[in-house]
Amino acid sequence: MRALIAGNWKMNGLTEDARSLAGALKARAEGAQLACDLLVCPPFPYLALVAQALAGSRIAIGGQDCHSTGNGAHTGDTAAAMLRDVGCSYVILGHSERRSNHQETDAQVRAKAEAAMTAGLVPIVCVGETEKERNADQTLAVIARQVKGSIPVGMEAARLVVAYEPVWAIGTGRTATPADVVKVHAEIRRLLVGLVGEGAEKVRILYGGSVKPDNARELLSQANVDGALVGGASLDAEAFWAIAESA
Ligand code: PGA
Repeated sequence: MRALIAGNWKMNGLTEDARSLAGALKARAEGAQLACDLLVCPPFPYLALVAQALAGSRIAIGGQDCHSTGNGAHTGDTAAAMLRDVGCSYVILGHSERRSNHQETDAQVRAKAEAAMTAGLVPIVCVGETEKERNADQTLAVIARQVKGSIPVGMEAARLVVAYEPVWAIGTGRTATPADVVKVHAEIRRLLVGLVGEGAEKVRILYGGSVKPDNARELLSQANVDGALVGGASLDAEAFWAIAESA
């Protein structure tokens, strides 16, 4: 399966940063033969600008969240159709920072994934255990609960991405061991069979959590690792490109 390397810019940068990062990636991508697909997920105010800056490149654009309904009285929220309208093809949903900062539940994430699918976006549904859950040997139970609760049943496999991001590995410089990653990704694949059926092997399962140029190759070469969701290192065009070249 062709890997997906996704950059989650989170709440970072201003206009000039977005413009120059997108410009640097577009310049890098011109004529390059990467073995993976590339995606960047800028903050909402810069989506249209980044879409314009990346026009004509094969780098896709995604949102970092969307609302679960079409449109209406939801101050501060963004509809999936709006993301699609400004050039997005993906949306990150249920990121652990959304789950912890905004108390998002599995049911809400699932409703958002349904809205994203209806709008023609590919949802990247994030799951991952906290350090406390990990230490209590709860990792697989937490992953099972989140996967079953956050992913709509019967989704088209090729239009679904799942990201395994251990919460304790995000932004900390710590990564899960390849053995842990293999174990959790295999379990996600097994759970997906129950949710999307036969096509489960077509769902891309990304690893996220302190992916950097120096650990990307090892992580990306593990079984059932179909790409990476990259936070900090995606803000540096050279580092993000080096990760993409490792895929
Ligand atoms: P990180 O973030 O690469 O900075 O750990 C990953 C993420 O939260 O998506």
